[in-house]
Amino acid sequence: MSEPVQTPQIPVNAAFKPRIFSGIQPSGGLTLGNYLGALKRFVQKQDEGIETIYCMVDMHAITTWQDPAKLRHATREGAAAFIAAGIDPARSILFNQSQVSAHVELGWIFNCVARMGWMSRMTQFKDKAGKNSENVSLGLYAYPALMAADILTYHATMVPVGEDQKQHLELTRDIAIKFNNDYGVAFFPVVDPLIEGAATRVMSLRDGTKKMSKSDPSDQSRINLTDDADMIAAKIRKSKTDSDPLPETLDGLKDRPEARNLVNIYAALADMSPDQVVTQFAGAQFGTFKPALVDLSVAKLGPITAEMIRLMKDPAEIDRILGTGADRADAIARPIVDQVYEITGMIRSRR
Ligand code: TYM
Repeated sequence: MSEPVQTPQIPVNAAFKPRIFSGIQPSGGLTLGNYLGALKRFVQKQDEGIETIYCMVDMHAITTWQDPAKLRHATREGAAAFIAAGIDPARSILFNQSQVSAHVELGWIFNCVARMGWMSRMTQFKDKAGKNSENVSLGLYAYPALMAADILTYHATMVPVGEDQKQHLELTRDIAIKFNNDYGVAFFPVVDPLIEGAATRVMSLRDGTKKMSKSDPSDQSRINLTDDADMIAAKIRKSKTDSDPLPETLDGLKDRPEARNLVNIYAALADMSPDQVVTQFAGAQFGTFKPALVDLSVAKLGPITAEMIRLMKDPAEIDRILGTGADRADAIARPIVDQVYEITGMIRSRR
């Protein structure tokens, strides 16, 4: 049983309609990292007028254990965060993954396209599995193939993400190319990762070398989108820094990861470049910079948190929005998956 050998079929991305897909896992509450690295940029893409499809990826979340009631809550809260941050469910498609079965259907096919060696190289799997790799779920290992399916079941061409998802998007490109080559088709686009802006990797407030994450055991390490003004202020005031003032240029932050992180956060929140931030605060001590960052954070995040709280009072309305989004998503994904069944040789004769 030899593997197929075909003439490479590289589709021209220009043959596909520009379309954005991205997702967030409801494996806990969302953080400032999710907001700056993803949500805020999702809104910008929507407002640029590109077709945008956004998803709470609940099927991804269960690759690690999730309490069912908490998962449901986190999915609704994540959807509320999208809307509170500026996603308009009339202009973007907003839904949860499990309501559109095309994702898992194509995910299985991609499990048969992706190679074990590719999956074994995924650094996020290695980090999450750690020394426990014999005991994590098979889903955690296969996860990047499902992520490729999330994107490619819409023939999406662009995927805005934070830096930590770069390797998964390279794998998505490899899967698309291998599928096209194996079956001699130019069917899937080769997606462009959009990793842009000052906050593609927001770091922990306790350790500037670690990513800010919803799964960090220390709540002090992150700002949650549900934190109130007092909590935000306390976390920023206590965040780790050094004793030097802010330098005149970004070069002066090279070996100061915590200081660099706070400058990046300020820049992303204020829609400035990190260069502009150091120019504005050159020579300032953290005793001056931190209060400015607190004020900016509260001004930008406060209205989002308040809107999330308001939206969460009506979970039925959130579910209705997710259901409508899922219908619209399904209308795009279903014909694409049906063509994949055709390409791969599956008989589909049910009426
Ligand atoms: P997730 O849920 O871990 O994160 C959602 C998005 O937030 C970004 N992000 C960050 N950006 C900057 N700094 C941080 N500290 C930070 N933490 C998180 C992530 O890069 C991501 O863009 N596998 C994905 C979810 C996913 C997906 C997809 C994304 C599933 N299918 C298809 C894009 C397309 C994940 O676990 O993201």
